[in-house]
Amino acid sequence: MKAELFANESNVPGWMRDETQASLCQFLLANRFRWLVTGAAGFIGSNLVESLLLLGQDVRGMDNFASGHPRNLDEVEKRVGADRWSRFSFQRADIREMSDCERTVDDIDYVLHQAALGSVPRSVKDPITTNDVNTSGFLNMLDAARRAGVQRFVYAASSSTYGDEPNLPKREERIGNPLSPYAVTKLVNEIYAGVYARTYGFASVGLRYFNVFGPRQDPDGAYAAVIPKWIAAMLANDDVHINGDGETSRDFCFVGNVVQANLRAALSKELTASEVYNVAVGGRTTLNDLFYVIRDGLAGLGVTYEKGPAYRDFRAGDVRHSQADVSKACAQLSYAPLFDLRAGMAEALPWYLNFLRSEAQRAAG
Ligand SMILES: NC(=O)c1ccc[n+]([C@@H]2O[C@H](COP(=O)([O-])OP(=O)(O)OC[C@H]3O[C@@H](n4cnc5c(N)ncnc54)[C@H](O)[C@@H]3O)[C@@H](O)[C@H]2O)c1
Repeated sequence: MKAELFANESNVPGWMRDETQASLCQFLLANRFRWLVTGAAGFIGSNLVESLLLLGQDVRGMDNFASGHPRNLDEVEKRVGADRWSRFSFQRADIREMSDCERTVDDIDYVLHQAALGSVPRSVKDPITTNDVNTSGFLNMLDAARRAGVQRFVYAASSSTYGDEPNLPKREERIGNPLSPYAVTKLVNEIYAGVYARTYGFASVGLRYFNVFGPRQDPDGAYAAVIPKWIAAMLANDDVHINGDGETSRDFCFVGNVVQANLRAALSKELTASEVYNVAVGGRTTLNDLFYVIRDGLAGLGVTYEKGPAYRDFRAGDVRHSQADVSKACAQLSYAPLFDLRAGMAEALPWYLNFLRSEAQRAAG
């Protein structure tokens, strides 16, 4: 199959080249739909836009650039080429404005709703804005999509919804108390999604992402995620901080898995009720182990980092352990996590080296 699909294109994301994904890719290549990706200038949103355009789809992106960047879309344009890029349109818009939601969802088949303010610490510092965007903005989008009669609304839910539920691996039906304002917003999204199915017959799919990483995840700023932050620190020979003793663990999930899950969720069978699915690998890596995976990966690319981790206090709102049971998504969506932490890191690290070196060059002159 490799030889047939994208045979002459070296830029195509790895998940699309895997034989198990051939029928999904061929279906989309043969059937053009209209997609709305909210948060399109962000990390996950821009990866969704890239894959959809490579699969010949019509894509509308919307974003207000609160945490996303025009450079992410510029990169997608370069990667997909002019022909496919001509099927993309962008609207600068804010999900807190109902008129923006209505305008962007008009005439759309599938919505992949990614726009939100991520980060647990950001929500602890400013719960009001996080709630405005993640709860009111979500409800605006959900309602606009329902009234527009879209075929499927798929949204970014979060593993933070498991809160203080102690059992591992996390199964969709067993959740605990949320541990941060961010987690509350993502839980409320799921509750609204359930109510919209029961009240209006508008069933949707929530994908509970577990610590996603990959190209275009922002390494800068106070709310950067751990993997890009550490890569940037190692490259600059700065200290790599671990909050707590380093035995905190996560199910790190490469973005290619997340893109696949979104497309499968959009195209999955008709729903009678709203559903949520874990989207992860089903593995568990401690922060101490993650440190060495990144350090060794960089060493393989010629970057040496000789310091050990710098430990500091645990961070408020963080859950201690996280590991997904992905069997529901595998069984019902035919989701197949193709990238574990190391395989994902092998794809992500060269991108980071390139990005961070060009940023440093730009800053220098
Ligand atoms: N990255 C992860 O590990 C992870 C884990 C669980 C859930 N999620 C969820 O996945 C989604 C995408 O996250 P990401 O990691 O790509 O983050 P990101 O910050 O890169 O992307 C979010 C995008 O939403 C946009 N946005 C924010 N507020 C907006 C508004 N009011 N109107 C329009 N656009 C707005 C931002 O500008 C940004 O481009 C979010 O809903 C996030 O909560 C992410």
